[in-house]
Amino acid sequence: MAQTEQILQVIRLARAFFRQRAEMGEEYLFGHVDTWPELSMKTLYESMEACQKCGLGGGRTNLVFGDGDEHADIMFIGEAPGRDEDLQGKPFVGKAGQLLTRIIESIKLGRSEVYITNIVKCRPPGNRDPSPAEIKACLPFLHQQIGMVRPKVICALGRIAAQTLLRTQSPISGLRGKVHIYHPYGSNHGIKLIATFHPAALLRNPQLKRVVWEDVKLLRKEYDGLIIE
Ligand code: URA
Repeated sequence: MAQTEQILQVIRLARAFFRQRAEMGEEYLFGHVDTWPELSMKTLYESMEACQKCGLGGGRTNLVFGDGDEHADIMFIGEAPGRDEDLQGKPFVGKAGQLLTRIIESIKLGRSEVYITNIVKCRPPGNRDPSPAEIKACLPFLHQQIGMVRPKVICALGRIAAQTLLRTQSPISGLRGKVHIYHPYGSNHGIKLIATFHPAALLRNPQLKRVVWEDVKLLRKEYDGLIIE
């Protein structure tokens, strides 16, 4: 490796280290997350690929990083990859994903105009819910991703995403239907967050369609409002 490349690599690793510490709440030591220079998505991908902080890393076929416009105003955050996502290395490509695509299109947007990712980046075996320890291990990566995409509005898909991001145990039925403010760790800057039911829940219970439609209309309204703000 050329000397310049070695120096750049050290700088990249140092930035990743400090940024992660800042996002884990060590604001008093390292300042606000917003003040840290951006890591590249590629570096973040590489650190996720090397991650074995929980047991899920060992069982995956592919890391499921994220998909879409890396500078999107809207970010959809689901729970964890399922079988299809694990095989393809892309979020929301199975049945629930196809429904998510239709939901996005119903508010006159395309998948390539938004950014889609999950709370947890590796598939939990048998599609079980990710455990609190797995979520905790993976969360710093999501915080970094949010810091890079810098969405104006986040749509949390389902209970796990909504409860994790809003740091609450309230049921999804009480969290949906309103605009929350999500505060990334170490940042004063709030991001609007709308929670709704997970597309997989919608597949199981089509009666939820009406409330999900209300939620995504609210999302569209917030998005349209950005142009005026
Ligand atoms: N369910 C999720 O929460 N995420 C995916 O990527 C696929 C299904």
